[in-house]
Amino acid sequence: MFSERLLRRLGPKRRTLPMVAEHVRLDTYPPPYPAGWYPLCASDEVEPGQTKFIQALGEQLVVYRANSGRLGLLDAYCPHLGSNLAGGRVRGECIECPFHRWNFAADGQVQSIPNVDTPARSLKTRAWSVREIDGHIAMWFSPDRAKAADASYQPDYELEPLEEVDDGRLVFRGQHDAGTIRMHLCEFAENSVDFQHFGPIHGKMMVPWLGFKIPGVNVQHVASWEADAEQSHKAYFCNEAVIEIAGRVLPKTRASATITFYGPAGFTTFRITLPELGDIVIYHTHLPVEPLLQHVRFRWYAAPNIPRLLVSYVVGNWIAQWREDIAIWENKVYRSKPMLIANDGPVHKMRRWFAQFYPAQTDVIRAAAE
Ligand code: FES
Ligand SMILES: [Fe+2]
Repeated sequence: MFSERLLRRLGPKRRTLPMVAEHVRLDTYPPPYPAGWYPLCASDEVEPGQTKFIQALGEQLVVYRANSGRLGLLDAYCPHLGSNLAGGRVRGECIECPFHRWNFAADGQVQSIPNVDTPARSLKTRAWSVREIDGHIAMWFSPDRAKAADASYQPDYELEPLEEVDDGRLVFRGQHDAGTIRMHLCEFAENSVDFQHFGPIHGKMMVPWLGFKIPGVNVQHVASWEADAEQSHKAYFCNEAVIEIAGRVLPKTRASATITFYGPAGFTTFRITLPELGDIVIYHTHLPVEPLLQHVRFRWYAAPNIPRLLVSYVVGNWIAQWREDIAIWENKVYRSKPMLIANDGPVHKMRRWFAQFYPAQTDVIRAAAE
C-alpha cells in the first residue's frame, strides 16, 4: 500500500503545536502497558529459520521461528552473559546464542551447552506466550512481572481468529503500517466513548487515504458502546453513519460499522457490512513501543466479490478519519476527573471496563472512574 510518509505529504497540511515534555503528559495517564495481547509484527516477517529483535512494552524480546514453523518468544538478552539472541541462529526447535552457543527452546529452557552433557533444569530464560492470528504474531503481556516470568501462567483470555478467514468467506486484501503515534494506548478506547467528538472531528466526508475534506458533504454519526456480557475482555463500539448534503440526509447512504476491542486495544477489528456484497474487516492494532508511543498497523480482509477499489475506498476512508484524531491524541493529557456533561458518552463506564487490564490496580482505577 502507500507509505504513511507519502500520504501525509500529499494530504492536507496540519497545524503543529509546540511539544510539551512527554513526562508532563505521561504523569496524567494510567500505567502505560495494560495486560493484553499485542501484535509484534506480521507473520511473514519471521519465516522458518529467522529471528527478529523487538523492543516494546518495556521489554527487549526475540521472536524466532523454528524450522518446523513453531514460534518462540524469549527475552532477547541471554541470561548467561547478556548477548542478544536475535543475532543467533535457529537450530531445530531452539535458538542458539551467538556468544557461547547455548541453545534455548521455546519454553525458555536451556537444551544444550557446548562441552556440557546435561544442562541443569534451573538454566532457563524468560519465555512469553506467543500466538499467530490472521497474519499477525501476537504476544501476551502482563504488567505483573512475576506472572509473566512463570512459564505455567496462562493468558487471561485468548484471541479469536476470524472464522471467515479460515473458511474463505473473507480474503486478505492489504495492510498499511502507519508508523508510531505519540499517544497512550487508552486513547483509542477513550475515543470510542467520546460521542461528542464525532461531529467536530469526523463530521466531514473525506477523500479516502489522503484526508482532504469534501466541501458541503457532511457525515452524521450515531454511536453506542457496550462491554460484552460474557467475555469481559471484549467491548463493542457501534457507529451508524449517514451522509448529509446541504442539510438533506441521504438515507440510502446509511451504513453501520462495529469496532470490537479484544482487550485494551492491542487488537481491535473494524467490521463494516456492505448490503448484498458482504463484509470488510480491518484489524486496527497497537503495539506500545514506549510509554506514550504506539506502533499502529492496519491489515484487512474482505468478501472476495467486493471490488478491490471499493475495499480500498472503505479502508482509506477509515484511515483518513482515524488520522484526524492524531493531532488531538499527540497533544493531550488524561483527565482522571473529567468535567463531563449529560450528552457526553459513557466515559466512566468504559474506564471501569478498561481497569480490568491493570490487575494489580483494578480497584484503584475503577474507584477513580466512579
Ligand atoms: S551470552 Fe549467551 S551463551 Fe553466553
Ligand atoms: Fe475519533
